[in-house]
Amino acid sequence: MGASPPAPPSALPSPAKIAAALGKRVLGQVDAVREVSVALAKKLAGLRVGNILLVGSSGSGKTTLMRAVEDLLASDPALALRSTVVRIHANVIGEEAQQGTASERVMHRLLERARDQLGAAAPVARVVAQASHGLVFIDEVDKLRSRVGDQVQVSGIRAQEALLTLIENEAVPLRLPDWAGGATVQVDSSRLLFVCAGAFEGLYESVFGRVIQGQGEQSLKTTTVSATGRIHEEVRFALRDWLRSEDLFAYGMTPQFLSRFDAVVVLEPLGEAELYKIFVGSADSALRQSHAYFASQGIKLEISESAVRRIAAEAARQPRLGARALKEVFRRVIRPYEFDPEHAPGLAEGRLRIDVADVERGLARGRDDSATSSGGWG
Ligand SMILES: Nc1ncnc2c1ncn2[C@@H]1O[C@H](COP(=O)(O)OP(=O)(O)OP(=O)(O)O)[C@@H](O)[C@H]1O
Ligand SMILES: [Mg+2]
Repeated sequence: MGASPPAPPSALPSPAKIAAALGKRVLGQVDAVREVSVALAKKLAGLRVGNILLVGSSGSGKTTLMRAVEDLLASDPALALRSTVVRIHANVIGEEAQQGTASERVMHRLLERARDQLGAAAPVARVVAQASHGLVFIDEVDKLRSRVGDQVQVSGIRAQEALLTLIENEAVPLRLPDWAGGATVQVDSSRLLFVCAGAFEGLYESVFGRVIQGQGEQSLKTTTVSATGRIHEEVRFALRDWLRSEDLFAYGMTPQFLSRFDAVVVLEPLGEAELYKIFVGSADSALRQSHAYFASQGIKLEISESAVRRIAAEAARQPRLGARALKEVFRRVIRPYEFDPEHAPGLAEGRLRIDVADVERGLARGRDDSATSSGGWG
Protein backbone atom coordinates (compact mmCIF):
# COMPACT_ATOMS: atom_id res chain seq x y z
CA MET A 1 0.00 0.00 0.00
CA GLY A 2 1.35 3.42 -0.92
CA ALA A 3 1.06 6.32 1.42
CA SER A 4 -1.66 8.83 0.62
CA PRO A 5 -0.36 11.61 -1.62
CA PRO A 6 1.02 14.63 0.18
CA ALA A 7 -1.44 17.49 0.44
CA PRO A 8 -0.32 20.58 -1.44
CA PRO A 9 0.91 23.38 0.79
CA SER A 10 -2.38 25.01 1.72
CA ALA A 11 -1.29 28.47 0.61
CA LEU A 12 -0.81 27.31 -2.97
CA PRO A 13 -3.83 27.63 -5.22
CA SER A 14 -4.75 24.71 -7.48
CA PRO A 15 -4.94 25.19 -11.26
CA ALA A 16 -8.74 25.06 -10.99
CA LYS A 17 -8.73 27.84 -8.43
CA ILE A 18 -6.37 29.94 -10.49
CA ALA A 19 -8.51 29.34 -13.58
CA ALA A 20 -11.63 30.39 -11.70
CA ALA A 21 -9.97 33.67 -10.74
CA LEU A 22 -8.61 34.33 -14.24
CA GLY A 23 -11.91 33.29 -15.81
CA LYS A 24 -13.66 36.19 -14.13
CA ARG A 25 -11.60 38.55 -16.24
CA VAL A 26 -11.03 36.47 -19.37
CA LEU A 27 -14.25 35.13 -20.79
CA GLY A 28 -14.49 32.23 -23.18
CA GLN A 29 -10.83 31.36 -23.64
CA VAL A 30 -11.02 28.11 -21.70
CA ASP A 31 -7.97 26.42 -23.21
CA ALA A 32 -5.71 29.41 -22.84
CA VAL A 33 -6.87 30.04 -19.26
CA ARG A 34 -6.32 26.38 -18.35
CA GLU A 35 -2.89 26.20 -19.93
CA VAL A 36 -1.75 29.34 -18.14
CA SER A 37 -3.34 28.21 -14.85
CA VAL A 38 -1.52 24.88 -14.84
CA ALA A 39 1.75 26.61 -15.72
CA LEU A 40 1.25 29.13 -12.93
CA ALA A 41 0.37 26.44 -10.38
CA LYS A 42 3.59 24.61 -11.25
CA LYS A 43 5.58 27.82 -11.12
CA LEU A 44 4.19 28.74 -7.71
CA ALA A 45 5.11 25.28 -6.47
CA GLY A 46 8.71 25.97 -7.55
CA LEU A 47 8.68 23.46 -10.42
CA ARG A 48 10.03 23.77 -13.93
CA VAL A 49 7.46 24.83 -16.48
CA GLY A 50 7.46 24.78 -20.26
CA ASN A 51 7.07 28.11 -22.02
CA ILE A 52 3.77 29.05 -23.63
CA LEU A 53 2.99 30.89 -26.86
CA LEU A 54 -0.49 32.40 -27.14
CA VAL A 55 -1.78 33.03 -30.65
CA GLY A 56 -5.06 34.89 -30.97
CA SER A 57 -6.55 37.57 -33.13
CA SER A 58 -6.80 41.14 -31.97
CA GLY A 59 -9.20 41.69 -29.08
CA SER A 60 -9.44 38.03 -28.11
CA GLY A 61 -8.09 38.54 -24.60
CA LYS A 62 -4.33 37.92 -24.68
CA THR A 63 -3.26 41.08 -22.88
CA THR A 64 -6.27 40.77 -20.58
CA LEU A 65 -5.09 37.29 -19.58
CA MET A 66 -1.57 38.53 -18.83
CA ARG A 67 -2.94 41.39 -16.75
CA ALA A 68 -5.24 39.03 -14.89
CA VAL A 69 -2.25 36.89 -13.87
CA GLU A 70 -0.30 39.95 -12.77
CA ASP A 71 -3.25 41.15 -10.69
CA LEU A 72 -3.82 37.72 -9.19
CA LEU A 73 -0.20 37.59 -8.03
CA ALA A 74 -0.30 41.18 -6.83
CA SER A 75 -3.39 40.44 -4.73
CA ASP A 76 -1.41 38.19 -2.38
CA PRO A 77 2.13 39.17 -1.32
CA ALA A 78 3.00 35.60 -0.37
CA LEU A 79 2.08 34.37 -3.83
CA ALA A 80 3.79 37.31 -5.47
CA LEU A 81 7.06 36.38 -3.76
CA ARG A 82 6.87 32.91 -5.26
CA SER A 83 7.06 34.34 -8.74
CA THR A 84 8.27 37.79 -9.62
CA VAL A 85 6.42 38.82 -12.76
CA VAL A 86 7.10 41.37 -15.49
CA ARG A 87 5.21 42.18 -18.67
CA ILE A 88 7.25 43.60 -21.53
CA HIS A 89 6.12 44.89 -24.89
CA ALA A 90 8.06 43.15 -27.65
CA ASN A 91 8.83 46.47 -29.34
CA VAL A 92 10.98 47.41 -26.37
CA ILE A 93 12.94 44.20 -26.78
CA GLY A 94 13.24 44.85 -30.52
CA GLU A 95 14.76 48.28 -29.90
CA GLU A 96 17.14 47.00 -27.24
CA ALA A 97 18.16 44.17 -29.52
CA GLN A 98 19.61 46.73 -31.94
CA GLN A 99 22.02 47.75 -29.20
CA GLY A 100 22.70 44.16 -28.21
CA THR A 101 21.20 44.63 -24.75
CA ALA A 102 17.77 42.98 -25.05
CA SER A 103 18.35 40.04 -22.73
CA GLU A 104 19.94 42.38 -20.20
CA ARG A 105 16.87 44.57 -20.40
CA VAL A 106 14.59 41.64 -19.53
CA MET A 107 16.76 40.63 -16.59
CA HIS A 108 17.03 44.21 -15.36
CA ARG A 109 13.25 44.55 -15.35
CA LEU A 110 13.02 41.36 -13.30
CA LEU A 111 15.74 42.58 -10.94
CA GLU A 112 13.91 45.87 -10.39
CA ARG A 113 10.66 44.07 -9.64
CA ALA A 114 12.47 41.66 -7.29
CA ARG A 115 14.09 44.57 -5.47
CA ASP A 116 10.70 46.25 -5.07
CA GLN A 117 9.36 43.06 -3.56
CA LEU A 118 12.28 42.28 -1.27
CA GLY A 119 13.10 45.82 -0.23
CA ALA A 120 16.08 48.00 -1.11
CA ALA A 121 18.09 46.54 1.77
CA ALA A 122 17.95 42.96 0.46
CA PRO A 123 21.36 41.50 -0.47
CA VAL A 124 22.04 41.62 -4.22
CA ALA A 125 22.52 37.84 -4.40
CA ARG A 126 19.03 37.37 -2.97
CA VAL A 127 17.53 39.79 -5.49
CA VAL A 128 19.31 38.02 -8.35
CA ALA A 129 18.09 34.63 -7.13
CA GLN A 130 14.53 35.94 -6.85
CA ALA A 131 14.62 37.46 -10.34
CA SER A 132 16.09 34.40 -12.00
CA HIS A 133 13.02 32.25 -11.44
CA GLY A 134 10.44 34.83 -12.43
CA LEU A 135 7.63 34.90 -14.94
CA VAL A 136 8.17 36.95 -18.08
CA PHE A 137 5.23 37.98 -20.22
CA ILE A 138 6.18 39.22 -23.66
CA ASP A 139 3.26 40.89 -25.35
CA GLU A 140 2.98 41.38 -29.11
CA VAL A 141 5.78 38.89 -29.70
CA ASP A 142 4.75 38.74 -33.37
CA LYS A 143 6.47 42.14 -33.72
CA LEU A 144 9.75 40.24 -33.40
CA ARG A 145 9.29 38.43 -36.70
CA SER A 146 12.48 37.83 -38.63
CA ARG A 147 10.95 38.92 -41.89
CA VAL A 148 7.94 40.68 -43.27
CA GLY A 149 7.17 39.18 -46.66
CA ASP A 150 10.51 39.06 -48.48
CA GLN A 151 11.95 41.79 -46.30
CA VAL A 152 14.40 40.62 -43.66
CA GLN A 153 13.85 42.29 -40.28
CA VAL A 154 17.22 42.38 -38.55
CA SER A 155 15.85 43.72 -35.27
CA GLY A 156 13.45 40.77 -35.12
CA ILE A 157 16.19 38.23 -35.71
CA ARG A 158 18.38 39.87 -33.06
CA ALA A 159 15.51 40.03 -30.58
CA GLN A 160 14.65 36.35 -30.97
CA GLU A 161 18.33 35.49 -30.57
CA ALA A 162 18.55 37.65 -27.47
CA LEU A 163 15.59 35.90 -25.89
CA LEU A 164 17.11 32.56 -26.79
CA THR A 165 20.13 33.40 -24.66
CA LEU A 166 17.80 33.63 -21.66
CA ILE A 167 15.48 30.71 -22.30
CA GLU A 168 16.73 27.47 -20.78
CA ASN A 169 20.21 28.84 -20.17
CA GLU A 170 22.04 27.87 -17.01
CA ALA A 171 24.83 30.41 -17.27
CA VAL A 172 24.04 33.80 -18.74
CA PRO A 173 26.64 36.52 -18.27
CA LEU A 174 24.78 39.52 -16.90
CA ARG A 175 25.97 43.02 -16.15
CA LEU A 176 24.13 44.03 -13.01
CA PRO A 177 22.48 47.46 -12.94
CA ASP A 178 24.39 50.23 -11.19
CA TRP A 179 22.16 50.05 -8.10
CA ALA A 180 23.25 46.42 -7.74
CA GLY A 181 26.94 47.22 -8.03
CA GLY A 182 27.39 47.01 -11.82
CA ALA A 183 29.51 43.84 -11.72
CA THR A 184 29.13 41.12 -14.35
CA VAL A 185 27.86 37.85 -12.88
CA GLN A 186 26.69 34.48 -14.19
CA VAL A 187 22.97 33.96 -13.81
CA ASP A 188 21.04 30.71 -14.15
CA SER A 189 17.96 31.76 -16.10
CA SER A 190 16.78 28.27 -16.88
CA ARG A 191 13.90 28.52 -14.41
CA LEU A 192 12.33 31.58 -15.98
CA LEU A 193 8.89 31.00 -17.42
CA PHE A 194 8.13 32.80 -20.66
CA VAL A 195 4.56 33.38 -21.77
CA CYS A 196 4.53 35.16 -25.11
CA ALA A 197 1.48 36.38 -26.98
CA GLY A 198 0.76 37.79 -30.39
CA ALA A 199 -2.06 38.41 -32.85
CA PHE A 200 0.10 37.29 -35.80
CA GLU A 201 -1.89 39.39 -38.20
CA GLY A 202 -2.02 37.76 -41.62
CA LEU A 203 -1.30 34.29 -40.22
CA TYR A 204 -4.98 33.36 -40.48
CA GLU A 205 -5.07 34.20 -44.19
CA SER A 206 -1.81 32.41 -44.96
CA VAL A 207 -2.86 29.22 -43.16
CA PHE A 208 -6.26 29.37 -44.82
CA GLY A 209 -4.52 29.74 -48.18
CA ARG A 210 -2.26 26.79 -47.50
CA VAL A 211 -5.18 24.58 -46.48
CA ILE A 212 -7.28 25.53 -49.48
CA GLN A 213 -4.38 24.98 -51.85
CA GLY A 214 -3.36 21.66 -50.40
CA GLN A 215 -6.64 20.03 -49.48
CA GLY A 216 -9.41 21.96 -51.12
CA GLU A 217 -12.36 23.59 -49.51
CA GLN A 218 -14.09 20.24 -49.02
CA SER A 219 -11.79 19.52 -46.09
CA LEU A 220 -13.32 22.39 -44.14
CA LYS A 221 -16.41 21.88 -42.02
CA THR A 222 -19.54 23.68 -43.07
CA THR A 223 -22.13 24.97 -40.66
CA THR A 224 -25.60 26.31 -41.18
CA VAL A 225 -25.86 29.94 -40.24
CA SER A 226 -28.95 32.03 -39.98
CA ALA A 227 -28.13 35.70 -40.07
CA THR A 228 -30.78 38.38 -40.36
CA GLY A 229 -33.44 35.77 -41.14
CA ARG A 230 -31.68 34.19 -44.12
CA ILE A 231 -30.18 30.74 -43.82
CA HIS A 232 -27.02 29.78 -45.63
CA GLU A 233 -24.13 27.34 -45.44
CA GLU A 234 -20.88 28.79 -44.24
CA VAL A 235 -17.43 27.22 -44.44
CA ARG A 236 -15.94 27.14 -40.99
CA PHE A 237 -12.20 27.56 -40.78
CA ALA A 238 -10.70 27.41 -37.32
CA LEU A 239 -7.04 28.36 -37.11
CA ARG A 240 -6.48 26.01 -34.20
CA ASP A 241 -7.44 22.99 -36.33
CA TRP A 242 -4.81 23.73 -38.95
CA LEU A 243 -1.95 25.76 -37.46
CA ARG A 244 1.42 24.02 -37.78
CA SER A 245 4.89 25.07 -36.69
CA GLU A 246 5.81 25.62 -40.34
CA ASP A 247 3.22 28.36 -40.57
CA LEU A 248 4.87 30.19 -37.69
CA PHE A 249 8.32 29.68 -39.24
CA ALA A 250 7.01 31.16 -42.47
CA TYR A 251 5.59 34.05 -40.48
CA GLY A 252 9.07 34.81 -39.20
CA MET A 253 9.44 33.04 -35.88
CA THR A 254 12.71 31.11 -36.14
CA PRO A 255 12.66 27.34 -35.56
CA GLN A 256 15.15 27.71 -32.70
CA PHE A 257 12.95 30.26 -30.97
CA LEU A 258 9.75 28.34 -31.50
CA SER A 259 11.29 25.10 -30.28
CA ARG A 260 11.61 26.67 -26.82
CA PHE A 261 7.83 26.69 -26.42
CA ASP A 262 6.18 23.56 -25.08
CA ALA A 263 2.67 24.74 -25.89
CA VAL A 264 1.23 26.88 -28.65
CA VAL A 265 -2.32 27.81 -27.67
CA VAL A 266 -4.71 29.36 -30.17
CA LEU A 267 -7.37 31.60 -28.64
CA GLU A 268 -10.93 31.28 -29.95
CA PRO A 269 -12.80 34.03 -31.73
CA LEU A 270 -15.29 35.34 -29.17
CA GLY A 271 -18.95 34.37 -29.67
CA GLU A 272 -22.04 36.47 -29.18
CA ALA A 273 -22.66 35.20 -25.65
CA GLU A 274 -19.15 36.14 -24.51
CA LEU A 275 -19.34 39.50 -26.24
CA TYR A 276 -22.60 40.19 -24.42
CA LYS A 277 -20.98 39.44 -21.07
CA ILE A 278 -17.89 41.48 -21.88
CA PHE A 279 -20.03 44.43 -22.92
CA VAL A 280 -22.11 44.52 -19.75
CA GLY A 281 -19.59 43.14 -17.28
CA SER A 282 -15.96 43.88 -18.03
CA ALA A 283 -14.23 46.55 -15.98
CA ASP A 284 -13.09 48.59 -18.97
CA SER A 285 -16.10 48.00 -21.23
CA ALA A 286 -17.38 50.71 -23.53
CA LEU A 287 -20.75 50.55 -21.78
CA ARG A 288 -19.27 51.25 -18.38
CA GLN A 289 -17.25 54.11 -19.72
CA SER A 290 -20.35 55.52 -21.33
CA HIS A 291 -22.33 55.22 -18.09
CA ALA A 292 -19.58 57.17 -16.37
CA TYR A 293 -19.52 59.83 -19.08
CA PHE A 294 -23.26 60.47 -19.01
CA ALA A 295 -23.23 60.44 -15.21
CA SER A 296 -20.61 63.20 -15.37
CA GLN A 297 -23.14 65.19 -17.42
CA GLY A 298 -25.85 64.52 -14.84
CA ILE A 299 -27.62 61.90 -16.96
CA LYS A 300 -28.41 58.29 -16.18
CA LEU A 301 -27.85 56.07 -19.20
CA GLU A 302 -30.25 53.13 -19.49
CA ILE A 303 -29.86 50.57 -22.19
CA SER A 304 -32.42 47.85 -22.79
CA GLU A 305 -31.63 44.16 -22.81
CA SER A 306 -32.60 43.83 -26.47
CA ALA A 307 -30.39 46.78 -27.39
CA VAL A 308 -27.42 45.12 -25.70
CA ARG A 309 -28.14 41.86 -27.50
CA ARG A 310 -28.28 43.65 -30.81
CA ILE A 311 -24.91 45.32 -30.15
CA ALA A 312 -23.32 41.99 -29.20
CA ALA A 313 -24.76 40.35 -32.31
CA GLU A 314 -23.41 43.10 -34.53
CA ALA A 315 -19.97 42.84 -32.91
CA ALA A 316 -19.96 39.07 -33.39
CA ARG A 317 -20.23 39.66 -37.13
CA GLN A 318 -16.69 41.03 -37.05
CA PRO A 319 -14.82 38.13 -35.43
CA ARG A 320 -11.41 39.46 -36.46
CA LEU A 321 -11.82 42.47 -34.17
CA GLY A 322 -12.76 40.38 -31.14
CA ALA A 323 -14.10 42.37 -28.23
CA ARG A 324 -12.72 45.51 -29.81
CA ALA A 325 -15.67 45.31 -32.21
CA LEU A 326 -17.96 46.14 -29.27
CA LYS A 327 -16.34 49.53 -28.90
CA GLU A 328 -16.62 50.19 -32.61
CA VAL A 329 -20.29 49.16 -32.80
CA PHE A 330 -21.31 50.96 -29.62
CA ARG A 331 -19.56 54.11 -30.74
CA ARG A 332 -21.72 54.23 -33.83
CA VAL A 333 -24.79 54.07 -31.61
CA ILE A 334 -23.82 56.37 -28.77
CA ARG A 335 -21.70 59.03 -30.40
CA PRO A 336 -24.52 61.34 -31.51
CA TYR A 337 -25.84 61.42 -27.94
CA GLU A 338 -22.52 62.42 -26.48
CA PHE A 339 -22.16 65.86 -28.01
CA ASP A 340 -25.30 67.43 -26.66
CA PRO A 341 -26.89 64.92 -24.29
CA GLU A 342 -29.22 67.45 -22.69
CA HIS A 343 -31.09 67.84 -25.96
CA ALA A 344 -30.90 64.21 -27.05
CA PRO A 345 -34.14 62.64 -28.22
CA GLY A 346 -35.24 60.05 -25.67
CA LEU A 347 -34.03 62.05 -22.69
CA ALA A 348 -36.66 62.27 -19.97
CA GLU A 349 -36.22 63.29 -16.35
CA GLY A 350 -32.46 62.95 -16.50
CA ARG A 351 -32.61 59.45 -17.97
CA LEU A 352 -31.42 58.60 -21.42
CA ARG A 353 -32.93 55.37 -22.62
CA ILE A 354 -31.41 53.45 -25.55
CA ASP A 355 -33.59 50.75 -27.05
CA VAL A 356 -33.04 48.33 -29.90
CA ALA A 357 -34.62 50.75 -32.40
CA ASP A 358 -32.02 53.37 -31.41
CA VAL A 359 -29.30 50.79 -31.98
CA GLU A 360 -30.68 49.97 -35.43
CA ARG A 361 -30.75 53.66 -36.27
CA GLY A 362 -27.20 54.12 -35.10
CA LEU A 363 -25.97 51.16 -37.11
CA ALA A 364 -27.77 52.34 -40.23
CA ARG A 365 -26.30 55.81 -39.74
CA GLY A 366 -22.86 54.26 -39.29
CA ARG A 367 -23.24 52.35 -42.55
CA ASP A 368 -24.33 55.43 -44.49
CA ASP A 369 -21.65 57.80 -43.36
CA SER A 370 -18.92 55.61 -41.96
CA ALA A 371 -16.32 57.73 -43.75
CA THR A 372 -17.49 61.03 -42.36
CA SER A 373 -18.04 61.63 -38.69
CA SER A 374 -20.50 64.36 -38.09
CA GLY A 375 -21.43 64.65 -34.46
CA GLY A 376 -25.10 65.54 -35.02
CA TRP A 377 -28.31 63.63 -35.57
CA GLY A 378 -28.17 63.71 -39.44
N1 LIG B 1 -11.82 36.95 -23.61
C1 LIG B 1 -12.10 38.17 -23.12
N2 LIG B 1 -12.74 38.31 -21.94
C2 LIG B 1 -13.02 39.54 -21.45
N3 LIG B 1 -12.71 40.68 -22.04
C3 LIG B 1 -12.07 40.61 -23.21
C4 LIG B 1 -11.72 39.35 -23.80
N4 LIG B 1 -11.10 39.59 -24.95
C5 LIG B 1 -11.03 40.91 -25.08
N5 LIG B 1 -11.61 41.54 -24.05
C6 LIG B 1 -11.76 42.99 -23.87
O1 LIG B 1 -11.43 43.59 -25.12
C7 LIG B 1 -10.40 44.56 -24.99
C8 LIG B 1 -9.16 44.12 -25.75
O2 LIG B 1 -8.69 42.91 -25.20
P1 LIG B 1 -7.13 42.54 -25.13
O3 LIG B 1 -6.34 43.77 -24.95
O4 LIG B 1 -6.95 41.46 -24.14
O5 LIG B 1 -6.93 41.98 -26.60
P2 LIG B 1 -5.64 41.30 -27.23
O6 LIG B 1 -5.95 39.87 -27.49
O7 LIG B 1 -4.46 41.59 -26.40
O8 LIG B 1 -5.58 42.05 -28.64
P3 LIG B 1 -4.33 42.67 -29.45
O9 LIG B 1 -3.74 41.53 -30.22
O10 LIG B 1 -4.96 43.67 -30.35
O11 LIG B 1 -3.39 43.26 -28.46
C9 LIG B 1 -10.17 44.72 -23.52
O12 LIG B 1 -10.89 45.87 -23.17
C10 LIG B 1 -10.80 43.52 -22.83
O13 LIG B 1 -11.49 43.93 -21.70
MG1 LIG C 1 -2.84 42.79 -26.63
